[in-house]
Amino acid sequence: MEFTLKIWRQQNAGAKGGFKTYPLKDVSPEMSFLEMLDYLNKQLIEGGDEPVTFEHDCREGICGTCGLYINGRPHGPMRDTTTCELHMREFADGDTIFIEPWRASAFPVIKDLAVDRSSFERIMHAGGFISTNTGCAPESNSNPIGKHVADLAFDAAACIGCGACVAACKNSSAMLFASAKIAQYAMTPQGKVERKERVDQMVRQMDAEGFGACSNTYSCEFDCPKGISVDFIATMNKEFLYSKLFGQKG
Ligand code: FES
Repeated sequence: MEFTLKIWRQQNAGAKGGFKTYPLKDVSPEMSFLEMLDYLNKQLIEGGDEPVTFEHDCREGICGTCGLYINGRPHGPMRDTTTCELHMREFADGDTIFIEPWRASAFPVIKDLAVDRSSFERIMHAGGFISTNTGCAPESNSNPIGKHVADLAFDAAACIGCGACVAACKNSSAMLFASAKIAQYAMTPQGKVERKERVDQMVRQMDAEGFGACSNTYSCEFDCPKGISVDFIATMNKEFLYSKLFGQKG
């Protein structure tokens, strides 16, 4: 297969960026998208050019570092698929592919396609943890959790913090990310202890980082590679409201 790649190149957050065109031949349809970029970088390095900077780690859909904006969609054209799980066979031979970094002021460009997502880390530091002593395994098993609640908490915990929700939203809202983390803890007995403080602090930090409000377009859910539901945003809003009106929700 061969492609024309239009890749965003930018030296740093303060520099002016722009698209550069790279024709690429002899691409295997079985290559992952990141392997295709590795293949391009090998050719750039061999030709004495600077390779394209992009982020990756696990390359199996777990870590959330590989977010790229591909042809106008976070993680590309396939639903429920991270960039590292996307394969070149999903594109047509001869396609032109536009590749950009996440676009959000709270995710400043580090270089080329890599952005600084430490704003998500600061939201987690604000309350995305439990500080109760949960004991050892037999003790946690003595706290039965209903199957429906356990499944819902697990669905929320599937968020990998990649930032696709922010990139997809016209308001650069991080509410899908924050709500998944808040809901994950709010539903389990161990997490309920700090639920009021948690929602207050995480929402405050989310706003301080400059993320926008929910745009109600559901684009975050549509482009989330883990299929996180916008229902968790309603859960977060409910948690926030109850924490303000009644103190800790019973
Ligand atoms: S590299 Fe870890 S999710 Fe893609």
